[in-house]
Parts: sequence; C-alpha cells; structure tokens
Amino acid sequence: MTVLLRPYLTSDFEVLRNWFSDEASVVQWAGQDMRFPLDPAQFAQMQQETEGAAPGRWMCSGLVGGTVAAHAQVVLDWQHGVARLARVAVSPAYRGKRLAQPFLRQVIDRVFAQEAFVRLELNVYTFNTAAIAAYRRLGFVEEGVRRSSVKVGEERWDTAILALLREEYNVIRASAAGDVVVP
Ligand SMILES: CC(C)(COP(=O)(O)OP(=O)(O)OC[C@H]1O[C@@H](n2cnc3c(N)ncnc32)[C@H](O)[C@@H]1OP(=O)(O)O)[C@@H](O)C(=O)NCCC(=O)NCCS
Repeated sequence: MTVLLRPYLTSDFEVLRNWFSDEASVVQWAGQDMRFPLDPAQFAQMQQETEGAAPGRWMCSGLVGGTVAAHAQVVLDWQHGVARLARVAVSPAYRGKRLAQPFLRQVIDRVFAQEAFVRLELNVYTFNTAAIAAYRRLGFVEEGVRRSSVKVGEERWDTAILALLREEYNVIRASAAGDVVVP
C-alpha cells in the first residue's frame, strides 16, 4: 500500500479524534498524558513544539489516496541524539493491512536522516501484540519491561521498551538495498 508522509495539519485532528472510542484505547495509543475525548488544545500545544530549527517534536500524518490513515509523533532530544517514537496509530479502517510498515519506515528514515540521532526508542504496552509485531518487523529490539507501570481503571499494565540504534538501521537499510555491509 502506498502511503504518503506529510506533517500533521490542524485539520487532521477531526479525523484522528474518531479513531478512539474510550479511555483505554486512548491510553493504549498515547499513554496517560492523553485522555478521552481527545483535546484539540492539547494537540495545538504539541504542534507548537514542532516549530523551530531543532524542534522538540515531529507530528506526522500518513495519507492513503488523500485520506489521513496514520499518525505518529517523534519526541526529539537533540543533545543526546535520542528520539522517541510515540503516538503511532493507524485508522481503524486500515488496521491489519500492514500500513504501519511503509508509514513508519518513512518516519524512521526521517529520524536517521538527521545526523544527530543515534537511537530511536519507544514504549509499548506488552499486551499490544499488533504494535509489537509491527515494531519488531521494522527492526526494533526489545530492551526490557517496566512492570505494572500504569493504572487504567482497575487494571495495571506493563510497558515494554524497544529501540533501534543507528548501526542496526544501517544494516537493515543496506540489506533492503542489496548492499553488503562491512561492520
Ligand atoms: C499498532 C498499529 C499501529 C499497527 O498498525 P497496522 O498497520 O494495523 O499493523 P499491521 O497490519 O502491520 O499488523 C502488525 C502485526 O500485528 C498483527 N496483527 C494485526 N492485528 C492484530 C490483532 N488484532 N491481534 C494480534 N495481532 C494482530 C499482524 O498480523 C502483524 O503481524 P505480522 O507482521 O507478524 O504478520 C494499529 O493496530 C493501531 O493503530 N492500533 C491502535 C493504536 C496503538 O495501539 N498504537 C500503538 C501504540 S504503541
């Protein structure tokens, strides 16, 4: 499936807000800083962080045939060269069709196109098997689990930490291009 990456626009919020139907689905997607229903003011505030030459955040939309079908953010620590992939979502209408792969590959390429970044990490709840499968397929490596790290209603969830280092990304990219990598 062809997916076009472009910066998030304010108008994308109206699409995104319909992808989540309750508190648990919002927390699964975005962690506990975000509540249901989604708040346009919170998105406007995040959009402000995308400004400037060394922004603190990127917000990306994935378009399929002109429709917003995916969303992701990257939190950028330029000083330490660490980026955090966050708030990855595919529209319910497109889930299970492997859209996350081509979309996130472009987001990952964009991170490592910046020389400053050597590590791309992410947090994902351990029950989120679809997300973990997608991240593993992209080359992310599981580093550990923060057990019982959040409380959602009466439940407690475990958070897995996954990361992709620049050298691992280079190997994946070279093998996709058919090049030989000399370590
Ligand atoms: C996680 C998410 C982004 C994956 O996007 P997607 O395009 O639907 O992913 P894919 O179609 O590539 O499927 C990913 C993998 O999960 C598997 N999968 C899909 N739906 C599944 C389900 N309901 N249960 C278990 N596995 C599932 C697929 O078979 C695939 O595994 P494989 O690559 O080993 O075959 C999407 O499901 C989503 O938006 N979920 C809600 C928000 C969310 O949880 N975001 C992640 C926050 S960390």
